[in-house]
Amino acid sequence: MKKLLLLSLMMMVPMFAQAAGGPSVALDSIEVDASDHSSLQRGMKTYVNYCLGCHTAQYQRYSRAAEDLHMPEDLVVENLIFSGQKIGEQMTSAMDPKVSAKWFGAAPPDLTNEVNLRGADWIYTYLRTFYVDDSRPYGVNNVVFPSVGMPNVLAELQGIQSKSCGEVSEYDTHGNPAVDGVTGKAITHQSCDILTVEEGSGSMTPAQFDATIYDLTNFMAYMSKPYKTDSHRIGLWAILFCLMMTVLFYFLKKEFWRDIH
Ligand code: HEC
Repeated sequence: MKKLLLLSLMMMVPMFAQAAGGPSVALDSIEVDASDHSSLQRGMKTYVNYCLGCHTAQYQRYSRAAEDLHMPEDLVVENLIFSGQKIGEQMTSAMDPKVSAKWFGAAPPDLTNEVNLRGADWIYTYLRTFYVDDSRPYGVNNVVFPSVGMPNVLAELQGIQSKSCGEVSEYDTHGNPAVDGVTGKAITHQSCDILTVEEGSGSMTPAQFDATIYDLTNFMAYMSKPYKTDSHRIGLWAILFCLMMTVLFYFLKKEFWRDIH
């Protein structure tokens, strides 16, 4: 029993190690959807336009994405490959990591597996929480990744976001604004972490920007688990098969024991 307890404690160590990495910031939560092909296609478009210049996705082939996302290969070549690469190649057309490490202080990591590493909520929140910070080399900092080396490459879409102080509403466990039971007034607290985008400074509205980042994160989640829709489909058949066999074996057992009783 003691050994079992020790073993289960040891198995929890990586969990604590991960929890210790980075500050505890409330992440915005999203539900990724591997079956929403148009969202994945838009996400891939954003990825090749805004991310691939620095971040490879070296375990993802264009042709596999074309097949999984239901896009004709000639359209992919025309609209999503800017590097002159062939459709069967991996998405590796980023800058030399040695050069980028010199420029940004850290090499931009490969992002094929990033959602498995950080989680979709983390990436969705990270990409939306760059804010102006003049003390940083590129003039921006990030809420979930303090002192990040990456410039805010999506600023032209989102606009100029900055941090300020003020009152913030509190929410109950159902996500509704919390209200004081006696006074009936909304419960608020002081915070200096309020992010606001300067109106008209980006080409998108906040809702459009959130939707773009959702699609991009959805595409990155697909890259991390390209087999997800297949495994759901196969899993369903496997369960149906097991159920069928259970019925069959039940009658077989009955047949075997008939003469014995
Ligand atoms: C100009 C180059 C550049 C571009 C373009 C760029 N990034 Fe980055 N990115 C970086 C660098 C450099 C880092 C490493 C930052 C560090 O470790 O401080 C980074 C880090 C990240 C990380 C965190 C990696 C980790 O787990 O440590 C994510 C996620 C990320 N980028 C996503 C994106 C996405 C999505 C896009 C496209 C919208 C993008 N990046 C575009 C340079 C870039």
